[in-house]
Amino acid sequence: MDKKNIDWASLNFTYIPTDYRYVSVYRDGAWDEGALITDPNVSINECAGALQYAQTCFEGLKVYTTSDGRIVAFRPDLNAQRMIVTAERLLMPPVSQERFLDALTKLVRANLAYVPPFGSGATLYIRPFLIGSGPIIGVAPSPEYTFRMFCSPVGPYFKDGIKPLRLQVSSYDRAAPKGTGHIKAGLNYAMSLFAGNEAKKNGFSENVFLDAATNTFVEETGGANFIFVTKDGTVVTPKSPSILPSITRRSLMYVAKELLGMKTEERPIPLKEISSFTEGGLCGTAAVISPIGSITTQEGEIFLPSGMEEMGPVTRMLYETLTGIQMGTIGAPEGWLYPIA
Ligand code: PLP
Ligand code: COI
Repeated sequence: MDKKNIDWASLNFTYIPTDYRYVSVYRDGAWDEGALITDPNVSINECAGALQYAQTCFEGLKVYTTSDGRIVAFRPDLNAQRMIVTAERLLMPPVSQERFLDALTKLVRANLAYVPPFGSGATLYIRPFLIGSGPIIGVAPSPEYTFRMFCSPVGPYFKDGIKPLRLQVSSYDRAAPKGTGHIKAGLNYAMSLFAGNEAKKNGFSENVFLDAATNTFVEETGGANFIFVTKDGTVVTPKSPSILPSITRRSLMYVAKELLGMKTEERPIPLKEISSFTEGGLCGTAAVISPIGSITTQEGEIFLPSGMEEMGPVTRMLYETLTGIQMGTIGAPEGWLYPIA
């Protein structure tokens, strides 16, 4: 199969429409069969729940070409499960794991020409989403839903690749303790735009959001979880009910503990503790692990000892092990690579 004529190495994290997308509609209490279509546009009623009351959610995962030429998805079962939790919280009909994985397989097999080759530095990003597509004018769940999944070849999320990032502590809250921070609702991202814009204007790559109740504990950024390394070499990550349970972060914590034999802790992390860490990173599907150079708080800029030029040694080891697993050069734990082609 011929690949599309794309300069894979120069891709950024931008949308490139591919030939096919998967769509399924939920009507009268049941999902239809689902099909691949070619139209990248969605046509819905002007009064759709998604358009009026933000009844939308999404997922994000990646597909890789391994060193031996297989096409695999990284832990898509966990994305399917997280989307079920999200859908239930937004009173949307969940898409079963079986349907989710079937859609993924069909979508990627139909768009094989867009799957970046091994070693190109690019991957195929998969974007499943679920929207209230039926009309509703009172504040209530939509009478009809659409599940779609499209894909786009992508490069690095942050334009400097793996250069350490400057972050600022946001003056806005991301998620309330009993709110929607733990699910992947579109509304979480809509309301993060203002804070994100402020961070960019101030010359930072991202915001550090603190817990909304006390503003003293580190939570996550607008699109990634945190990991940090303590002086004694323990990999720590924030624990909070209002953080999105990142699949990348859960995988990294497993890699650190089970494959690299490191000490790991998931616990509340006070902002005050940041200055004692030796390294830090943002972790997520899009971000992979992007190293943190500094975090600016009200008291000034805290530089992590790993510096502003390179990833710290622990972050690098985690990055290389995780990406090695994803690309098939390091043996994957059972069930982590989902075979597609
Ligand atoms: N946190 C937020 C708010 C996100 O949007 C994402 C991206 O999906 C993550 C964390 C990372 O999650 P994952 O590793 O599952 O992609
Ligand atoms: C992802 O990492 O897949 C995300 O969804 C983060 C961001 C692009 C919203």
